Amino acid sequence: MTATLSDLVVVSNRLPIDVSRAADGQITYGRSPGGLVTALQPVLSERSGAWVGWPGTPDFSFDPIRLDGIWSIPVALSATEIAEYYEGFSNATLWPLYHDVITQPEYHREWHEAYRAVNGKFAEKAAAAVSEGGTVWVQDYQLQLVPSMIKQLRPDVKVGFFNHIPFPPEALFAQLPWRREILMGLLGADLIGFQRAQDAGNFRSCVRRVTGLTTRGHHILVRESDGGVRDVMSSAFPISIDSTAVDARARQPLVQARAREIRSELGNPDAILFGVDRLDYTKGIAHRLKAYEELLRGGRLKVPGVVMVQVASPSRDNVSAYQALRDDVETTVGRIAGDFGSLGSPAIHYLHQNQDPDEMAALYLAADVMLVTALRDGMNLVAKEYVASRVDGRGALVLSEFTGAADELRQALLVNPHDIDGLKNAILRAVAMSPREQRRRMQALRRRVLENDVSSWASSFLGTLAAR
Ligand code: F6P
Repeated sequence: MTATLSDLVVVSNRLPIDVSRAADGQITYGRSPGGLVTALQPVLSERSGAWVGWPGTPDFSFDPIRLDGIWSIPVALSATEIAEYYEGFSNATLWPLYHDVITQPEYHREWHEAYRAVNGKFAEKAAAAVSEGGTVWVQDYQLQLVPSMIKQLRPDVKVGFFNHIPFPPEALFAQLPWRREILMGLLGADLIGFQRAQDAGNFRSCVRRVTGLTTRGHHILVRESDGGVRDVMSSAFPISIDSTAVDARARQPLVQARAREIRSELGNPDAILFGVDRLDYTKGIAHRLKAYEELLRGGRLKVPGVVMVQVASPSRDNVSAYQALRDDVETTVGRIAGDFGSLGSPAIHYLHQNQDPDEMAALYLAADVMLVTALRDGMNLVAKEYVASRVDGRGALVLSEFTGAADELRQALLVNPHDIDGLKNAILRAVAMSPREQRRRMQALRRRVLENDVSSWASSFLGTLAAR
């Protein structure tokens, strides 16, 4: 089937659907319930919207398909393109560079060539799908060249770009051999959104230094080849979650019963410490484990009074830094389990698996202390999910100040995860926090997360773009 032209086209690396092909060639399609697609569902189905993205497996394509009013348009990628554009340039060059060089970025010219070529494929699909004068909204660091490519193919359309991860300071960004091309790629957009004001500021500094263009407040003045000047706006739009849905899930009797069951399966300890992250070196999992191990070794926390649960969802496991991280984390988990657990009373439960949303909600409800210790994170939606799940007003959130969420969630116990002693003290404070203090802090946190949900984020971005 051919998709009809759409007034609004969203472009992201991954398509928000689950597609699978059986051995007999039969293809089955299902919606994948991410926050972004939930937020955009009403506006996309109203505007006969389309979503352009990679289906997630090599050399796989299908005809555009309409699910719940949204066209899904696949961009097929070969195994080599996945290795060079996705695992290589996106996740072994840009990802570490944009996350403060926690791991050394690798600069390979062939990865950059693949990034440019694959960005071209996404841009062509989007340009062919959008109606006259329509809007294209490009998502994230994998697709930074797409805005200018679309503007060239379709000067009639409005282009927005949102960067879900941090934008690095000029001193780091300057390392990138293709820094000018990336900035000019982004500047094809009419509106460029970032998680934090700091990211938008970093971007404008990079633009001034690398391209020599002038900025005025939030605006960048881009000189066009015809001598005209185009005004590009850059600003912060902190993303959120579908807070009402997360809150409602946590109120379900089955989820609440499961939370009680989890506590009892863990031996009804005084304190359950909980971490859930993609297994990524930006998340500070090793720092968190180090703090917990030292607290146990020093006798300041004791099993079975305390237990840690760490869920680490598998991620990017063909990238070598992720393989090294897994080895490191699993060695530490093994040492903690071996040194401090006993039969029937483990010190730590480690799950290298994805959990379904109900189980996640029950885990959030069961956890006394939520540990978010990212070394750098664009936003960190786990912190917001924990808060929205605590319908009982209980629980304590330990939150890294290097997350976008820390700008909003000021009533959390804010920590610098590099400061292991500070982190240990914050964990002890969270464990000892009175129910009264938990409620006071959680009430303020919940107000913020329930007011600013992912739909208000999307309307605010699209509203600003429409007004440009
Ligand atoms: O936050 C950045 C991001 O790329 C998201 O867009 C995505 O949901 C997540 O990280 C997981 O990344 P990947 O698509 O590489 O598995």
